[in-house]
Amino acid sequence: MGSALPSQRELAGTFGVNRSTVIAALEELIAEGLLETRPGKGTFVSDSTWKVMSAGQPANWHRTVTAGVHKASLETVKEINEREARGTDIQLGKSELAPALFPAAEIRDILHKRAAQLTSLSYEDPKGNRELREAVSSHLAKKQISVSPDSILIVSGALQALQLISIGLLSTGSTVYLERPSYLLSLSVFQSAHLRLTGLKGDEEGLVPEELEKRLIPGENAALYTIPTFHNPTGTLMNGNRRRTIMEICRNGEIPIIEDDVYGDLWIDDPPPPPLKSGDESGNVLYLGSLSKTLGPGLRIGWLAGPESVIDRLSDLKMQTDYGSSSLSQVVAADWLTGTKHEEHMKKVRLELKARRDTAVAALNEYAGDLADWQVPAGGLFIWVRFRTPLYQKRLFEKALDAGLLLNPGTIYSKHATRHVRLSYGYASLREIREGIRRVAEIVRRIQDSRTTGQ
Ligand SMILES: Cc1ncc(COP(=O)(O)O)c(C=O)c1O
Repeated sequence: MGSALPSQRELAGTFGVNRSTVIAALEELIAEGLLETRPGKGTFVSDSTWKVMSAGQPANWHRTVTAGVHKASLETVKEINEREARGTDIQLGKSELAPALFPAAEIRDILHKRAAQLTSLSYEDPKGNRELREAVSSHLAKKQISVSPDSILIVSGALQALQLISIGLLSTGSTVYLERPSYLLSLSVFQSAHLRLTGLKGDEEGLVPEELEKRLIPGENAALYTIPTFHNPTGTLMNGNRRRTIMEICRNGEIPIIEDDVYGDLWIDDPPPPPLKSGDESGNVLYLGSLSKTLGPGLRIGWLAGPESVIDRLSDLKMQTDYGSSSLSQVVAADWLTGTKHEEHMKKVRLELKARRDTAVAALNEYAGDLADWQVPAGGLFIWVRFRTPLYQKRLFEKALDAGLLLNPGTIYSKHATRHVRLSYGYASLREIREGIRRVAEIVRRIQDSRTTGQ
């Protein structure tokens, strides 16, 4: 106790590490009270070291943090989540609209108006605020989906709907068919509920009905999870005929469908065909929507529409989970979806998205035309870029971070997608989109060169 430590330079030499590593280690030990600095004299072993060391043994958190029933996120996903929150990189991965597209004035108006009317902040109805469910019902009617407010559950984002479905409707060991790659494969939600995910190969229009038909096993416990409109991550759009065929296959095989339509309103060129749910006469489709991709994910408002018995079951689980989504958010969402505000906003968003998508495609042509292939999406937020030579994805991800770029590598969405990157044109500015794509191409070229020269 009280002894002086060697200088930082000496410590770096002794341990064969950079000085920055030594500084980081010292800072940590100082924060823990094991070392102390004396101005002008150096760093010393703290006099109170004994007290610190002999304090009650902490619980073995390491064992407990790895023991829970829910699996952790992929390491890359955790890193992306942290870096996105920092907001210092060019964000070419983020599945969200740019802050400049947030209708701040309109939302402030709603907040002012609703604040003046506020009389309580009680728990809401188990299925969610009635006014919001009525607004969602009218919103869905515009997509030719006819559901009563009693067949709608308000959720804290579509992700919560997936969570509730995984624990409340599908039995352990059931198979969930889905497009491969898929957003769902970037999460551990279904796997944690011991569901088996079976990926189906798609084409430029998404899920291929014949693939699904071939894989189905009569009598098995199964469901289909699909994103027919502006798929995440591929951006594909399923045509009307294919939608009808898939509905028929699932009806005949008694396979329930989970239709994820969070990107449906983000069409750029033409309105997409109506959702699968619009042709659902037998109550076979659970439909998911959200305000996250059109208005703001921070609101945490989404919805689930399906047969009333299913909605009753899931609303009970939702009550047991969180007693309902924030009533403030629900009131704002109800106001937003009533009248024409949402549609007016979407008109502006679509124009912006067109400019962004076109900029991204032009930059890809200019910088990566000889390196990669892609399909121009008709809506949504993503371009699924396939490089012609295999990429070592971790290296690409890290080199991109070094260059101030945040990318979503393809392997997040399918372990087979080793040549892919999901580029989002929704968040970064036009200038950043161009510059970001230029840097990606440069990094890929450098990786290829180092491979050929064996470095
Ligand atoms: C296909 C898909 N479904 C659901 C979600 C979750 O959205 P929410 O913010 O509504 O929970 C996302 C978010 O990226 C998504 O891409």
